Amino acid sequence: MPRSVESPRVVNIADLRLLARRRLPRVVFDYLDGGAEGEFTLRENCNAFEEVTFRPRHAVAVPKCELRTRVLGCDLSFPVVLAPVGYSRLMHPEGEVAAARAAGMAGTAYTLSTISGHRLEDVRSASSGPVFYQLYLMGGRAAAEAAIQRARSAGFSALVVTIDTLVAGMRERDFRNGMKELLGGNPLAKLPFLPQFLARPGWLAGFLLDGGVPRLPNVVIPGQGPLPLIDVGAALSSAAVTWEDLRWIREAWSGPIAIKGVLTTDDARRALDEGASAIVVSNHGGRQLDGVPASLRVLPEIVAAVNGRAEVLMDGGIRRGSDVVKAICLGARAVLIGRAYAFGLAAAGQVGVARSLEILRTDVERTLKLLGCASIDALDGSYVHVHKK
Ligand code: GLV
Repeated sequence: MPRSVESPRVVNIADLRLLARRRLPRVVFDYLDGGAEGEFTLRENCNAFEEVTFRPRHAVAVPKCELRTRVLGCDLSFPVVLAPVGYSRLMHPEGEVAAARAAGMAGTAYTLSTISGHRLEDVRSASSGPVFYQLYLMGGRAAAEAAIQRARSAGFSALVVTIDTLVAGMRERDFRNGMKELLGGNPLAKLPFLPQFLARPGWLAGFLLDGGVPRLPNVVIPGQGPLPLIDVGAALSSAAVTWEDLRWIREAWSGPIAIKGVLTTDDARRALDEGASAIVVSNHGGRQLDGVPASLRVLPEIVAAVNGRAEVLMDGGIRRGSDVVKAICLGARAVLIGRAYAFGLAAAGQVGVARSLEILRTDVERTLKLLGCASIDALDGSYVHVHKK
């Protein structure tokens, strides 16, 4: 592992975030780091973990901890899956390929976003572990069916259908930084936003050598070719999935489906009715509807409503392995991480993702030992106390 991401320079995810901020132009960093509107939900996702405290069992010898689990039919070395992160190729030229490879080497699963810059076949073959495909309907049903077919042939293990994107949330930082202008076709509109790139020559050189703004090789409209990369507002306004769509999606994809973006017990039950194998309790990292609760706060009621009929995963606010353990104590089978690995990707490519996974994995193991618990499977609500706000 290169010294740039080793201890003492990097001892936690916050350190990787600072390195990412130093390497990326503001528009790309803020796209990754930011949330919607006043970023209340973004902050809440992290704050909620501070209201859960541990109840350790001391003087218990735990020489070895079992961290392995199974998610969507796949064996994972520890209960952390890489979430879909759009525009990863803008964060680092190797983008999704680097993240998938690092996930595989760490023995866990990677989820490829529809808004990705590398071909899904290349991402699949880069990883020695399972890879899931996250579906948005931008480009229309025919493009989505073609992507599902390609994902099946390439050997993806599960489909992750995101249901919280009827439109994009109001990401104020993206507007200020000119995300739309920079990805759009009008060169004059880009001019006011260009200085942020000159301030990051290392990133700029990599971006230009990579060919500049990529197209969307996984959104191929039959007869027209791949969609150009558009800003997240334009992308998500044509990406919405409804419960009705799940019918044809289920016909096109015979493998397991996870429904991501569930925040209420009603939606959880609906997802079960539509045949979901897993539910991801998620507010899209605080990037969609600001003012919804932290994922962790609604997790227990959704776990109770699902009552073992599907796997319950969660994302939002995971920055430490102790956060992973808290989510599992409250009923999650595993968590998804987005920013926590993408900061590593932006900081240093594949080795940055590997470092982020190593940090979280050693955190999880140490936390289990300090709790006096020998395995992930043995974690339950008796190991935590939830303080009501
Ligand atoms: C893409 O899915 C995003 O939320 O930015």
